[in-house]
Amino acid sequence: MYNSPLVTRDPAGRRKHCHAMNPTPDTSRPAPGPTQPHHLDCDEATFRLIPRLAEAYGDVVRVQSPNLERPTWLISNPEHIRRVLVSNHRNYVKGVGFERVEMLLGNGIIVSDGAFWRRQRTMIQPAFSRGNMPRFFDMVREVTERTRAHWRELAATGETLDVTHATGEYALEVILRLIFSEDLDFFRDQEGINPFRFLTEDPSRNLMVAMKFRQLLKQVGVLIQRRRETGARPFDLLSLMMDARASRSNEAMTDRELVDEVATLIIAGHETSAGTLNWAWYLLGQDEASAAALRDEVCRVCGDGDPTYDQLEQLAFTRQVLDETLRLYPPVWLFTRKAVEADMLGGQQIAPGDNVFLSPWLTQRMERYWDEPEAFRPERFAPGQGDDRHDQAFFPFSAGPRRCIGEFFSYVEMRTHLAMLAPHFRLRATAGQSIELEPAINLRIRHNLTMSIETL
Ligand code: HEM
Repeated sequence: MYNSPLVTRDPAGRRKHCHAMNPTPDTSRPAPGPTQPHHLDCDEATFRLIPRLAEAYGDVVRVQSPNLERPTWLISNPEHIRRVLVSNHRNYVKGVGFERVEMLLGNGIIVSDGAFWRRQRTMIQPAFSRGNMPRFFDMVREVTERTRAHWRELAATGETLDVTHATGEYALEVILRLIFSEDLDFFRDQEGINPFRFLTEDPSRNLMVAMKFRQLLKQVGVLIQRRRETGARPFDLLSLMMDARASRSNEAMTDRELVDEVATLIIAGHETSAGTLNWAWYLLGQDEASAAALRDEVCRVCGDGDPTYDQLEQLAFTRQVLDETLRLYPPVWLFTRKAVEADMLGGQQIAPGDNVFLSPWLTQRMERYWDEPEAFRPERFAPGQGDDRHDQAFFPFSAGPRRCIGEFFSYVEMRTHLAMLAPHFRLRATAGQSIELEPAINLRIRHNLTMSIETL
């Protein structure tokens, strides 16, 4: 088994992380990095560049941007990632690039920082508690049942399935149900169709989309007002957030704050799961043994029926498939932090104001941490496998206090999706498709994936 150079074992065999990461800085030599400037961003050029930079210059690469005064740093070593996101997280705030998201999300918790972020996170977190999950699961199950009926019709007529579109619509419907429950129909009644649909039809996040989205959010403001006036609180994320109180002041969120958090949950909560499911179907379509193992597992755990909430946890292989998909295609492939005060990473002096770039895409495909990193092998996440691997060699949901708030829920959603659909359908990619990646804010597939669909 592959042994990470960063994780050792004590005499009792327990995992022990090496902390040899803060030696005295070697100021006599320039920091490793290219001499020509590069502007790192969520784009194609950066996507292609970062593996080469890490290969050529190592764990901590200094990159001078033509647009920024301060240097940027690309880090790929799990130990340094852990320092930035977990052990020294107080020294790092959200970095360059988040301004663009601000246009879409206002000051929602993906964007905010400091005391305001902490207040919002503490108010929103309880909504995602384990206790609420069975009721969210019921919503997911209903959406999946409708998806299954639609897929059956397609299979019966011999039509192909646009998997990218289908998983996009699915995940959007799920998150909208979670936020608005029956009031999603209130939006529908007014517009005739689901007015948020354009988010899956036009995945670019340009100014026009941002303006259209913000315009639509005015309707959310109307809904909040209506709930305040009538006192109606159906069980959903919006009600839970409306009733949340800040721990010190006991204040509720303002309408504006609620609208920004709703916007954040819609955007953060659908494209990520949709992308993961899209790739999971693609990968399972390429690997009949894994697809069969997943179907067998569902059959063994759930018999002929659909999973109950309690059975989801027992779907261990299904979870492995999802983890391996997230390793190969992490939707959030690049993110940034900005140093508040000086820090040391891998012997390099990070100055206040420097931006640090972290990429699950990069670290999760490094040979140093992963055996045959390009191969789809769900078994590597099986219990007992990869115990020597550093925790932060896999971080599709980030880590530390700013770790994804929807992580647990997203596994409920994605496991339910696969467990309710995979035993009933065989999906195979249709011939002649070019499977390309489109690295933007999220890592997406460039051309929609179509697959033939047959009932089992
Ligand atoms: C496969 C699914 C998902 C992936 C891979 C994912 C990934 C991530 C990552 C990497 C971050 C941290 C970004 C950063 O710190 O810069 C994040 C934050 C966040 N995610 Fe997710 N996410 C997923 C699903 C969801 C879902 C389903 C929701 C909501 C229902 C959600 C809501 C959020 C929110 C609100 C934050 C901001 C948390 C904070 O800063 O305190 N995510 N997610």
